[in-house]
Amino acid sequence: MRKQIAAANWKMNLTLQQGEALIDELLNTPHNLSDNQQAVFGIPFPYLTAINAKLAGKENVFVSAQNCYSKKSGAYTGEVSAEMLQSIGVPYVILGHSERREYFGESNAMLAEKVNICFEYGLKPIFCCGEALSIREAGSQNSFVETQLKESLFHLTAAQLTGFVIAYEPIWAIGTGKTASSDQAQEMHAHIRSVLAAQYGAEVANSISILYGGSVKAANAKEIFGKPDVDGGLVGGASLIAAEFAAIINSLK
Ligand code: PGA
Repeated sequence: MRKQIAAANWKMNLTLQQGEALIDELLNTPHNLSDNQQAVFGIPFPYLTAINAKLAGKENVFVSAQNCYSKKSGAYTGEVSAEMLQSIGVPYVILGHSERREYFGESNAMLAEKVNICFEYGLKPIFCCGEALSIREAGSQNSFVETQLKESLFHLTAAQLTGFVIAYEPIWAIGTGKTASSDQAQEMHAHIRSVLAAQYGAEVANSISILYGGSVKAANAKEIFGKPDVDGGLVGGASLIAAEFAAIINSLK
């Protein structure tokens, strides 16, 4: 059975003190996580060690980095490597968020390298894909997302993709308050799963958690997560409010 995941993406928000207070409040807010469910906190690099220590011993709750570099090590001032993240016990890394693609020029080819280096160091990617509004308006979202998957993931083996995590985030729904309808989410998630099944077979495709991202909040999480191919969410704005994110966790299947 594939994992159901509520992943927070704090982006470049909160001081360490605010982040710690948020985690404390969240841990004190009732939330239930069964063994098939996880809460993941995508937090800024400088806080990974402190927050990871806070989560030690908590079941099914993990930290995630929001990025890592594609090269092993060397003269890349300001970058953070997969090996560094491994060395501080970080299990997850968000890769290819649309903000990274747009503002930092991350291409499908570069993301293929980042995925590889994560596997080399035992980190689990949360691989983001999704189309801009103009692509949706032109009706080409399915082929656009398919190309993102093919160019960044299809060199992987079936074993590597088993249990993999993908986040579908339509760019027009990120931070805009405009959510894809649960039917639009389901339609794209089913498409993603069918593309994966065609390449790797149904068993691998059914093992992959596909999260929806884009203005997920307490008020809409249950309906979106209730769709058969939606396995949780990647949550920006609403993950900065403890009561909201706790309710989102409790909306997991
Ligand atoms: P949002 O962000 O929930 O604020 O729309 C989602 C994301 O960018 O991961």
